[in-house]
Amino acid sequence: MPVTQFTVPEKYTYNVGLGSYHHSEALKGANPVAQNSPQVPPYKLLTECISGTSFTTPRNLNLSVWMYRVTASINRGRYVPYTAETASSKAAASPMTYSPNFLHWDDFRLEPGYDWVSSQKVILSSGDIATKTGFSYLVFAATKDMAPNTAYYSSDGDTLIIPQAGVLDIKTELGYLMVRPNEIAMIPRGLKYRVTLPAGSARGYICELRQGHFRLPELGTIGTSGLANARDFQIPVAVFDGTITEGVASCPAAEWTIIRKYNDSLFSCTRNQTPFDVAAWHGSYYPYKYDLGRFSVLGSLLYDHPDPSIFTVLSAPSFREPGTAVVEFCIFPPRWQVMENTYWLPPYHMNTMSEFIGIIMKDPEPNPNTVFKPFGGMLTGAMTPHGSDKKEHDAERAKAFKPAKVATEPVMAFLLESASIPGVAEWASKIVIEK
Ligand SMILES: [Fe+2]
Repeated sequence: MPVTQFTVPEKYTYNVGLGSYHHSEALKGANPVAQNSPQVPPYKLLTECISGTSFTTPRNLNLSVWMYRVTASINRGRYVPYTAETASSKAAASPMTYSPNFLHWDDFRLEPGYDWVSSQKVILSSGDIATKTGFSYLVFAATKDMAPNTAYYSSDGDTLIIPQAGVLDIKTELGYLMVRPNEIAMIPRGLKYRVTLPAGSARGYICELRQGHFRLPELGTIGTSGLANARDFQIPVAVFDGTITEGVASCPAAEWTIIRKYNDSLFSCTRNQTPFDVAAWHGSYYPYKYDLGRFSVLGSLLYDHPDPSIFTVLSAPSFREPGTAVVEFCIFPPRWQVMENTYWLPPYHMNTMSEFIGIIMKDPEPNPNTVFKPFGGMLTGAMTPHGSDKKEHDAERAKAFKPAKVATEPVMAFLLESASIPGVAEWASKIVIEK
């Protein structure tokens, strides 16, 4: 069965279908019929909208969500700098550095004692948040839940989460997502959420996309299905932390802290009610998750390698040059290689794209001799020559041809590929192995 056999069972139910317009009601009838902004919505809720794209973005790319909630997000105290210690605040701020060499990290080795927000550290970055260009790649290693009555959101970009170990229980304004290794999740810019750890510590990778949004790649002559299929993306259903009294929805008073990332700095404010007061929502701008085990791998049936773009799960196209991407998220799952007179290792190459590879490994005790270790990474900047070493190529060249399964479980590698050259944060450059 083409799904991952997770050790921690699913807790939640979901809508399905990436790119579709969805609606969900925690209170029956809480979404107004036809009208988005009635004078008084059902249950005397308030209307709040998030625009994920400009108002006049073409219809097929336009993203927004309408929420019907007890208290508008505007009801809060003033934002002040968030002064709690974070893993990043302990690292000296410094300009990014650039290396033309192949960069390899064995293990990002984050310190314990932090939660989802405070454990995040940027490793690679390109572009500029204020002008909405480029991306950051981060790592996280959370060893505790976010504090009670605390929620977080990023103003800087969409957050693609790639767990490597542990389980993330993510409560968003639009509902729950449970995310395990070999699943990915995307939280859109501006949406509040909190993260708890039902199975203890969790760590992994994050791609913060500052420009545009991820979507499924075009399939061209592949046709209607294949690669990541829209039906396999799971979207939360509405959750309402309140009650109804005489037809009026309400939530109890309680002090909450909202932590917000704004131009790469953290701020916080308080409010006197939960942000999880959305009784219903409808729209095209929502979080989602996807089991990488459902990826429908396509490939060559006779000879040679297709380009690795055949493994693209999600793409954030760049409109600067046709066919390029701000970031593409690709995977190298277990698959059969059946080509004749060819072997599975890619040919030596230099690409216009910069490639960051990380390893999601389900085996908690991976082979210590493997080059690719979980929670490590590899960066090959644009036009950096790379490929497997001569020994591996020689071994494959000497083999008799027969169909074989490669990248067998429990290994899953991912690739974040970009048209831009990322800089390396100082802390990450200090633990890098250059080749
Ligand atoms: Fe490559």
